[in-house]
Amino acid sequence: MVKEMDVSTIKKIGIVGCGVMGPSIAELFAIFGASSEYEIVIYDISPSQIEKAKTRMDIDFAKVSSTGLFNTSDLEVARNRIQLENDINSLADSNLIIEAVPEKLELKLEVFNQLDKLTPPSTILATNSSGLSITQIANATNRPLMCIGTHFMNPPLLMPLVEVVKGKQTSDQTVQTIVELLTNVNKRPVLVKKDIPGYVHNRLQAALFREVMYLLDEGVMEVQDLETTVKYGLGLRLPVMKVFEMVDLMGLDTIQNVLNYLYPTLNCSTSPPSFLKQMIQAGELGTKSGKGFHDYTKSDIQESMQQKEAATFQLLLMMQQYD
Ligand SMILES: NC(=O)c1ccc[n+]([C@@H]2O[C@H](COP(=O)([O-])OP(=O)(O)OC[C@H]3O[C@@H](n4cnc5c(N)ncnc54)[C@H](O)[C@@H]3O)[C@@H](O)[C@H]2O)c1
Repeated sequence: MVKEMDVSTIKKIGIVGCGVMGPSIAELFAIFGASSEYEIVIYDISPSQIEKAKTRMDIDFAKVSSTGLFNTSDLEVARNRIQLENDINSLADSNLIIEAVPEKLELKLEVFNQLDKLTPPSTILATNSSGLSITQIANATNRPLMCIGTHFMNPPLLMPLVEVVKGKQTSDQTVQTIVELLTNVNKRPVLVKKDIPGYVHNRLQAALFREVMYLLDEGVMEVQDLETTVKYGLGLRLPVMKVFEMVDLMGLDTIQNVLNYLYPTLNCSTSPPSFLKQMIQAGELGTKSGKGFHDYTKSDIQESMQQKEAATFQLLLMMQQYD
């Protein structure tokens, strides 16, 4: 019988993949787990991705330093605690490994199978998948008890929410260890008790996307007014009010009356709208091609992302007063 890891036995954290998500997850454990002095290793199959990640981490640490919330020498120690490696064997003695390779099931199965062979049977294997089945991924290993989903939001260093997703066989001890670990680094872990596609966050997001695209397609509202409706209606309420609190405030009887006539009219199509396909065929891919529902220039994107991250941080400080 393998002795399962509790939070105090996690000393070395391995991360697979240093693309968009991996480096920020590493920064999180290095900065907010400073008192635990985690050893952190990121492994990537691509040397050029490792080089890009180094530059990106320099920028991220400079941004964190500019908040004035951390001592410069502490940040330097945190930065030095992160190793970037091109050899998978560097992960072999990790107590926890978080996989952040592209969202392709076959690839994740292959990586989990490799990690299962590489590490001691007590090592917890987590996936940052956005919605693939944890149960299926865990079945590529001989330790489904110790496999779990940790779905971080982008960027993980800033965004508090992490969905902790239980596969069919994930043990309660594994869940507890991961929830405690994430809480210790200032995250807001939530438990997804059933392994369903997209987990919870992306299902909610998809429901909103489905309805706004439907309303646009039906000619009910133009893009700009849809943006205003979501932002200055629902969007303004949500940072200070919880969803079920909103239902309670409206009154459950009133809500039932409204939903009785509204539900049958909501969009429930099972495929994305055909206009989306036409936009994609026309090369309108969003920020990456400079045109989607809005138009973008390269410098706009960089500048606005930086401003948005700074604003998100301010909003977060404010929102926490309404927990
Ligand atoms: N990008 C986001 O906004 C976001 C948000 C939440 C969750 N996720 C999820 O996180 C995961 C990673 O996404 P990302 O955006 O960081 O991907 P990415 O494409 O930016 O990076 C993936 C990295 O994995 C590396 N890689 C590929 N195959 C590998 C292998 N066999 N071994 C080691 N490294 C390998 C690649 O070289 C690349 O550097 C995905 O499952 C994605 O769905 C992404």
